[in-house]
Amino acid sequence: MAESLLFDAHAPREARYEVLTSQLKALMTGELDAIANAANMSALISEAFGFHWVGFYFVKENTLVLGPFQGPIACTRIALGKGVCGTAWENATTVLVPDVEQFPGHIACSALSKSEIVIPIKNSTGTVVGVLDIDSSELNDFSPIDQAYLESWVKLYEEACYA
Ligand code: SME
Repeated sequence: MAESLLFDAHAPREARYEVLTSQLKALMTGELDAIANAANMSALISEAFGFHWVGFYFVKENTLVLGPFQGPIACTRIALGKGVCGTAWENATTVLVPDVEQFPGHIACSALSKSEIVIPIKNSTGTVVGVLDIDSSELNDFSPIDQAYLESWVKLYEEACYA
């Protein structure tokens, strides 16, 4: 496994997603552990795009519990239906929030977060087992292109850990 990521930090975001997809795949090949892969995937996304916060929450005893992340300290537990993460879990679908102040019930772990995307992680039977949460310090920072690539990366993660 390569020890460092290879990408052009000045390339447009889509080009970075493209070149990093195979590197993410390689990082997770042969590794089944959900925490180990979440840790590397958070680091990869953070290094590639410099988002304010990138991390995972996992469903444990019917609550979301903080997992591996990159960024400032964050809230440790989120209930079903609460905040952006709890909504993505409850609805089992991606939630893209262009302006967190306009999202009723948004949980402000950091005053610097301005926009957010949360993608549910599902096991092989389709049950949500966690979420990938990415916060940006820029308003309206996530486009449908981000959503499509990040959903495809979560699919790679699901295939590696929950197939
Ligand atoms: N803002 C999230 C909470 C998690 S932190 O952003 C890391 C939410 O509303 O679910």
